[in-house]
Amino acid sequence: MSALAQSVRAGFESRFAAQPASLWSAPGRVNLIGEHTDYNDGFVFPFAIDRRTVVAMALRPDRLLRVASSFAEETVELSLDDLTPENLAGWSAYPLGVAWALGQFGADLAVVAGFDVFIDSDVPIGAGLSSSAAIESAVAVALNDLWQLGLDRRVLARVGQLAENRAVGAPTGIMDQSASLLGQADAAVFLDCRSLDAEVIPLGFAPADLELLIIDTRVSHAHSTGGYASRRASCELGARMLGVASLRDLTVNDLPRAAELLDDETLRRVRHVITENQRVLDTVRTLREQGPTAIGALLDASHVSMRDDFEISVPELDLAVETARGAGAIGARMTGGGFGGAAIALTPRSLIPRVTAEVTAAFAARGLTAPDLFVVHAADGASRAE
Ligand code: GLA
Repeated sequence: MSALAQSVRAGFESRFAAQPASLWSAPGRVNLIGEHTDYNDGFVFPFAIDRRTVVAMALRPDRLLRVASSFAEETVELSLDDLTPENLAGWSAYPLGVAWALGQFGADLAVVAGFDVFIDSDVPIGAGLSSSAAIESAVAVALNDLWQLGLDRRVLARVGQLAENRAVGAPTGIMDQSASLLGQADAAVFLDCRSLDAEVIPLGFAPADLELLIIDTRVSHAHSTGGYASRRASCELGARMLGVASLRDLTVNDLPRAAELLDDETLRRVRHVITENQRVLDTVRTLREQGPTAIGALLDASHVSMRDDFEISVPELDLAVETARGAGAIGARMTGGGFGGAAIALTPRSLIPRVTAEVTAAFAARGLTAPDLFVVHAADGASRAE
């Protein structure tokens, strides 16, 4: 049992003076490419990472829900009879939001048993690696087992997304939960966010002597406020004005017409989504035909599009990307929702120390908070025990 699993078991025992029925875990994710395409019914290509949230859970003989974790002193208690999104707040909205959302996908919350849950995680919070989806997915698989719901993982991803949208209040898409639930070691999940068809595609980083370096800028971000929602609104406006259900229905051939009909800002938002969808398809094809050393230029182009057209980068992310490229990364881009969080740099293994040193030095030279740099590997999705 991992050290994290041991501490979760111990945490459960000390908070609840009982044994858990079992432990479940789910990973954070990194998105290789396909940003702000998920809520436009488009394509994404993320993978689950070797940082996980572990939950210990047991059903109770009554209707009480008790939630505890290593990151908060308090134990939050709520009756299943009072479980509505409006009654949820703070960190416990993630696990309790999942319990509520399961009720929207077939669980009969009028008859299920209450539960105790203890949560811990080594997914960094606020780094854009989906610590929240890791909690949601771990709780979703745990309750799917204990409440014997038999729900498919694609449905559990929608459960996690609904929890995030309604209980946490972040208008996010389906990517993060899908990666956390469907990921496999050494592979990424090519997901069509309209059909939810998912294909697991080997990355081949190790045989190519490549590593994926995370550069957490430590600029914090939140998707329940501000920029994320306004980008989503721009995309919806663009789709409406161009007469399609979603931007997924457009290709680069539609850009001249878009240029005639849209104001400059909306045009740039739309252009990002259209070209990013194409870059995901190109990345998957290039990876299959030529291997991972050939995808660098697509990662770079994705960053430029997010910086200039979608305008969700920040100076720290641009600095991380430019410095990593200059130090030998073969491709780099900001990853996740933007406005802070992390960049990724696909880097030859032998150059990891140099990229790390140069990025660290560039931040120090500008008086910026020191970034956190670490390598992640593609890992298996959510599972029982560890
Ligand atoms: C966040 C959201 C995802 C997705 C990305 C941007 O991570 O949770 O649904 O929209 O931003 O690609």
